Amino acid sequence: MKKITELAPGLHYVGANDRTTQRFEALWSLPYGVSYNSYLLVDEKVALIDSIEAGFADIYFDHIAGVLGDRPVDYLIVNHMEPDHSGSITRLRERYPDLKIVGNAKTLDMIGGYYGIRDNCLEVKEGDTLSLGGRTLRFHLTPMIHWPETMMTYCVELKALFSGDAFGTFGALNGGIVDSQLCLEGFWDEMRRYYACIVSKYGKPVQMALRKLAGVDIEWICSTHGPVWHDRVADVVALYDKMSRHEGEYGVVIAYGSMYGHTARVAEHIARELAERGVKPIVMHNLSFADPSMVLRDIHKYRALIVGSPTYNGELFPEMDALLDRLSSRGVAPRIFAGFGGMTWAGATPRRWAEFCERSKWSLCAPAIEIRQGYSSVCHEACAELARSIADRLNG
Ligand SMILES: Cc1cc2nc3c(=O)[nH]c(=O)nc-3n(C[C@H](O)[C@H](O)[C@H](O)COP(=O)(O)O)c2cc1C
Ligand SMILES: [Fe+2]
Ligand SMILES: [Fe+2]
Repeated sequence: MKKITELAPGLHYVGANDRTTQRFEALWSLPYGVSYNSYLLVDEKVALIDSIEAGFADIYFDHIAGVLGDRPVDYLIVNHMEPDHSGSITRLRERYPDLKIVGNAKTLDMIGGYYGIRDNCLEVKEGDTLSLGGRTLRFHLTPMIHWPETMMTYCVELKALFSGDAFGTFGALNGGIVDSQLCLEGFWDEMRRYYACIVSKYGKPVQMALRKLAGVDIEWICSTHGPVWHDRVADVVALYDKMSRHEGEYGVVIAYGSMYGHTARVAEHIARELAERGVKPIVMHNLSFADPSMVLRDIHKYRALIVGSPTYNGELFPEMDALLDRLSSRGVAPRIFAGFGGMTWAGATPRRWAEFCERSKWSLCAPAIEIRQGYSSVCHEACAELARSIADRLNG
């Protein structure tokens, strides 16, 4: 009888959902939880593909035993060594003493360093295959998505790509595992948020991986987080292609900080001016309250970004500093960009927007607005000019 975790003949989902961890990598919020996905391929030999977070090991072993009973696991394929996928390796080896660990040279080096495991390992290189009997696994090295050892494993007969973190999303799996079983609405934005926070610095390696996989016939994408993709494989690959080229959609993000509300009023006024010109969506984030991962996601998603900040001790408002740092350290490609700010005795914002542009090879599409000692209608003309310039660039 077919088990409820069986996605395709012999392919089982044995991962777990995490709805208690507050921050992924101790940084990124998890309002909808996250899943750690792992897969079993049951054939003459049994392969486990990717493992999961140490805290979920008991549930994980139960899922594996639910499929295999007393039968042992022969191979553990490690596509990615980050501890959310390798934390249970030591206990897996205790449970299945003959388990052979399969990974590339970099992976095996890391497994040695993290867990002291150096025996019973099988090193694979680009294009190598491993037969499980009826099914064949082929390995493709896809370094730097987002660690140097990352690789993908392809099951030739099932046309299933085990992609590691690539194509992954935040968000726990609520009952459904495969895309067709899930309400996907929230997952697309969670895929963007995962990408923006964790992978976006590595757009070029993602492009290289997509080129390498271009000739591979993929019917299933089995990532380590989020839904298993089957009906929507083409859409997922297209979104990854777009995100890795930092290609934004029509729309504007206004991100600002404000202590006493003056900069905030400029933000509101610019937003009105944009709306009057038919621009939408306009996404506004007050950086003191917004979730940084959502801000990053939206800046990735849309083509235009307007930033606003008071001058603070001769520099930018700290939350704005943090945002610009996140953008430049991720190499986010230039957005249609403008800035505004305020000061009381000596302003810093125009200089700091210019410095950011120089460092990140962005450019301002309108003169920086700087209000002096409080908001007033004096800035309205400049706001209209800035909004016109953004709208023209978006439309042109
Ligand atoms: C802690 C602090 C430091 C500030 N540092 C400066 C400064 O270095 N130069 C300056 O012109 N204004 C400075 N200001 C004044 C703010 O820039 C001004 O209050 C702000 O632009 C008002 O905008 P807001 O209402 O959006 O906060 C400072 C204000 C505070 C509270
Ligand atoms: Fe990872
Ligand atoms: Fe991961």
